[in-house]
Amino acid sequence: MTYKFAVFGNPIEHSLSPIIHSFFAQDLGLDVIYDKIKVEDNFKDICSNFLSTAQGCNVTVPFKQDAFLLANNVSQRAQKAKACNTLKKQADGSLYGDNTDGAGLVLDLIDLGLQLKQKNILVIGAGGAVRGILDELYQEQVASISVYNRTLEKAQALVDDFAYIKVVTTDSMQDHYDVIINASSSSLYNSLPNIDDSLYAKANFVYDLMYTPIGATIFTQKAQALGCPNCYDGLGMLIGQAAFAFKLWTDKMPNISATKAYMRQYLQELQH
Ligand code: ATR
Repeated sequence: MTYKFAVFGNPIEHSLSPIIHSFFAQDLGLDVIYDKIKVEDNFKDICSNFLSTAQGCNVTVPFKQDAFLLANNVSQRAQKAKACNTLKKQADGSLYGDNTDGAGLVLDLIDLGLQLKQKNILVIGAGGAVRGILDELYQEQVASISVYNRTLEKAQALVDDFAYIKVVTTDSMQDHYDVIINASSSSLYNSLPNIDDSLYAKANFVYDLMYTPIGATIFTQKAQALGCPNCYDGLGMLIGQAAFAFKLWTDKMPNISATKAYMRQYLQELQH
């Protein structure tokens, strides 16, 4: 059979999802057509129409909450995030919504050799991306998750749904975290979150959810310059969330290490 999928978003021109899913399909010997579809408005009708002849789709910024509302039923993690990045058409035609972002992040962290158990983690940001990753991190038996956000109230609002987090300010932060995850969109604006330089230097592992063709963001570059030994951008998370979507649709789990190697090469060639 030929599977038909797509990713919906705006902007969508530079989405790597079609390349990633084509690699999965080729690696696993499946026949897949994967498009990217730019939506201006009326996400609901455009997406429903596509799914009438397709098995599933991914949904990215700014439509993840619309996808959550469109789904007839959702996974527990999508319910917690109040957002879906993956929709699957079920046998009866109804739509199942999932959020694979957090699972994708944890899969990549493990693939990078990070042991999350008993680690003290600082998460920066308090938007949709943070909602999508907190539970998956917590399930790895971490010692603690502290959340710092530029706008304190927004971080405090997370406690209703994620009671185990500690909301911290620049004053109440610990002076050391094992792992720092930038889940804010600061790197997108070429700016840095307002945290002390010594935190980068003392951390063992720093990760930015944003990715770039060179494999480093302004945030990971700063951490590296200050001596953090393990600094990574979010390309692996992008591949990880795609892998869990692909598995939901096809029942086959892609190999993320092979896909990461392929995608790094692909991005490098694009630059030249
Ligand atoms: P996403 O879905 O990517 O999480 P979002 O819901 O718009 O997007 O949230 C963006 C997050 O990045 C917010 O936590 C935002 O902080 P504020 O709540 O203070 O707005 C954070 N953010 C965006 N630009 C930032 C910057 N330059 N420095 C620090 N944090 C930033």
